[in-house]
Amino acid sequence: MSTDELLNRHRAVMPNWINPLYADPIELVSGSGCRVTDASGRTYLDFFGGVLTTMIGYDIPEVSDAVRRQLDKGIAHSSTLYLIRKQVELAEKIAKVSGIPNPKVFLANSGTEANDTALLLATQYRRSNQILAVRNSYHGRSFAALAVTGQRSWSATSLSPVNVSYLHSGDRLRGVFAGLSDAEYIERSVADLREVLATTTAGDVACLIAEPIQGVGGFVAPPDGYFKAVKEVLDEHGILWVSDEVQTGWGRTGEHFWGYQAHDAVPDMLTFAKGIGNGFTLGGVVARGEIMDCLNAVSFNTFGGNPISASAGQAVLDYVLSHDLQSNAARVGEVLHAGVRGLNSPIVAEVRGKGLMLAFELVRPGTLDPAPELALRVLEETKANGLLVGKGGLYGNVIRMGPPLTLTEAEAKEGLDILAAALAAAHRQAVAA
Ligand SMILES: Cc1ncc(COP(=O)(O)O)c(C=O)c1O
Repeated sequence: MSTDELLNRHRAVMPNWINPLYADPIELVSGSGCRVTDASGRTYLDFFGGVLTTMIGYDIPEVSDAVRRQLDKGIAHSSTLYLIRKQVELAEKIAKVSGIPNPKVFLANSGTEANDTALLLATQYRRSNQILAVRNSYHGRSFAALAVTGQRSWSATSLSPVNVSYLHSGDRLRGVFAGLSDAEYIERSVADLREVLATTTAGDVACLIAEPIQGVGGFVAPPDGYFKAVKEVLDEHGILWVSDEVQTGWGRTGEHFWGYQAHDAVPDMLTFAKGIGNGFTLGGVVARGEIMDCLNAVSFNTFGGNPISASAGQAVLDYVLSHDLQSNAARVGEVLHAGVRGLNSPIVAEVRGKGLMLAFELVRPGTLDPAPELALRVLEETKANGLLVGKGGLYGNVIRMGPPLTLTEAEAKEGLDILAAALAAAHRQAVAA
């Protein structure tokens, strides 16, 4: 069956708001390490990992063996009506590395479910449905997760179970905070937070939910130390802080295990998903015990942390820690960042991210005008030359990369050569336009 035929069948039966990338979408049929192969037999270096989800690479025996061992026992599911050893072990491991005091862990299937749960906990604990969120954020696709998502192109509805006030994003390329130094940005943001609390809320806000580095938003981030300054204000009001670590967790930023740790402050809850399952469905929340235990109704999740995904999750976390992938993210991330900056491309307005989270924003030469058409060109050029990257940002003009944390220096350099050629082609297109 050809890919064209599969695309037609996809379009006929799947929702039209699920859009595969590329003018000619591809089907990935196998993978190994940091490489994937499509249905036509072409192999690509993968710098996107299925949106930062294949975190330790493809076909990792430690993960497959752990899952197979569980499958061989004949129990893929039992439900939380019964004790699940794999789930308890995984929760203990996650609690231990979370940095959250007195931690308890709820296991779910996705980032959306994790954030929904965090919002449920915060609103119940604080007996308030008022939430602070951040412009340009993405937190998932349930009603509550969409309600705290600050991007028009992802906001499919205004219906909301929560009442949201939005803080500024860390964008200092454009907008009212453009060009501010780190210290000025933090000072103005804190002043803005005080003004938002005084003017758009009834005071008793439940929580702030924020990504340390905005994923879908194109890796826009506030300066280090921002959340410490913000938390001081939140603490004056008893407002909780939820750090959405769905993209930034498990050492991806290189310098820290969690994104929040760049800010010298500890959140009340963190949410995780994507990479911890390395493809198996796994997400969850770590919360201080008294917050996690605040629900006064029975609640459970049929599939969350089932024996299969919990086995995978444990194998992934063990692998991340035993191979010190955080250090690899720091080291190889630096090669990538230095390489992209060194290209000095006139169509790149900003290079962003940390560790193995890297994005660059494409603009028309000599301006700050977003150039989504150049992002598309870079996507197509990189694909044609054997590299998969992603797209994002408020204007669809940001190229995003989040390769497996196992990426080698040689692979980083191989990808950089392809990126350099793609940027040169996009620049020629911009000049010709
Ligand atoms: C920061 C962040 N939070 C939450 C989500 C939602 O996760 P999921 O797609 O697993 O529901 C995403 C997905 O991209 C994300 O990037």
